[in-house]
Amino acid sequence: MKSLTLLSVSLAFISAVAQDPLTIFHQTGRLPAGCVSGYTAGTDTVLLTIPYTYTQVLSIIGDYQNLTWSGNPKNTVTLNGTDNTVGTARTYDTAGAHVIETITVYDKPANGPYNEVHTLAPLSVPAANVSFYADYDGTTATPVCNGAATAFNFTANFCATNATLTAAILHMIHLTDAETVGVFLGGQNFTTCEAINSTMTSSSSTGTRSAPAATFTGGVGTISASALLAAIGSLAALVL
Ligand SMILES: *[C@@H]1O[C@H](CO)[C@@H](O)[C@H](O)[C@H]1NC(C)=O
Ligand SMILES: *[C@@H]1O[C@H](CO)[C@@H](O)[C@H](O)[C@H]1NC(C)=O
Ligand SMILES: *[C@@H]1O[C@H](CO)[C@@H](O)[C@H](O)[C@H]1NC(C)=O
Ligand SMILES: *[C@@H]1O[C@H](CO)[C@@H](O)[C@H](O)[C@H]1NC(C)=O
Ligand SMILES: *[C@@H]1O[C@H](CO)[C@@H](O)[C@H](O)[C@H]1NC(C)=O
Ligand SMILES: *[C@@H]1O[C@H](CO)[C@@H](O)[C@H](O)[C@H]1NC(C)=O
Ligand SMILES: *[C@@H]1O[C@H](CO)[C@@H](O)[C@H](O)[C@H]1NC(C)=O
Repeated sequence: MKSLTLLSVSLAFISAVAQDPLTIFHQTGRLPAGCVSGYTAGTDTVLLTIPYTYTQVLSIIGDYQNLTWSGNPKNTVTLNGTDNTVGTARTYDTAGAHVIETITVYDKPANGPYNEVHTLAPLSVPAANVSFYADYDGTTATPVCNGAATAFNFTANFCATNATLTAAILHMIHLTDAETVGVFLGGQNFTTCEAINSTMTSSSSTGTRSAPAATFTGGVGTISASALLAAIGSLAALVL
């Protein structure tokens, strides 16, 4: 009787350990299929078009190790393999979270569209008291308006201890990232395809339009990890 109890206790312990996504990830290098116990599935999509060309956008986002546009410059991001290659993971710390993102799709044709998908290893955001992981965290950048603008699609399919809160956090991060690319390239917002042409025409006639890529100063609009932490903290306070 006693040994049976001990056996069931240790079996329960083993299955509890086996259900920990971080343990599974570290043991197998893979994320569990479906959501493990205590996690529920969620998804979030951010769509944003900015009035800058595909080439300009790729000059900001086209290096997997360079997350300056997401508040983490190149020297704070480490790779375990070749840059911009399937199977390579980037690792960095932000807002108290240890982030490991492994490339599963990397497609960057000269004329677009750009398609980059990575997994997100299990992580925790202490300020929001939430943990999550993702088997699909994708970014596409597609030229639109005859190449005058670029449409972003950030979509993440994740498992989380709180899916509502995680969707809100990922939405905020991805929207800020997309907006930051626009800020880096000159800070104009997209309205219509026609408006881009009229801006170009009127500006070039007055000669006041600055060369977007050339005016990049680095760090403009970049959110620091502490700013992100504060934002997540206030977001958590707001939605909880
Ligand atoms: C990282 O990307 C930014 C543009 O977002 C660029 O200005 C900077 O030179 C890049 N850093 C490195 C080390 O490549
Ligand atoms: C990099 O790390 C990821 C995540 O641990 C792993 O799946 C991948 O195989 C590693 N790649 C290389 C090239 O070591
Ligand atoms: C943190 O979240 C867990 C569920 O994931 C919950 O059990 C716990 O009470 C929360 N802690 C606080 C301080 O809100
Ligand atoms: C955004 O990307 C997701 C994932 O690839 C896709 O399912 C969805 O249809 C895309 N949305 C738009 C508006 O393109
Ligand atoms: C998850 O967060 C939402 C707010 O985003 C809150 O209303 C809800 O109670 C939380 N759910 C759990 C299970 O903690
Ligand atoms: C662009 O949109 C952002 C966010 O709505 C706003 O804060 C900013 O002032 C706008 N910039 C311009 C140049 O209209
Ligand atoms: C913008 O102007 C170019 C060159 O005149 C033209 O080919 C293009 O169709 C225009 N695009 C829009 C959306 O008006």
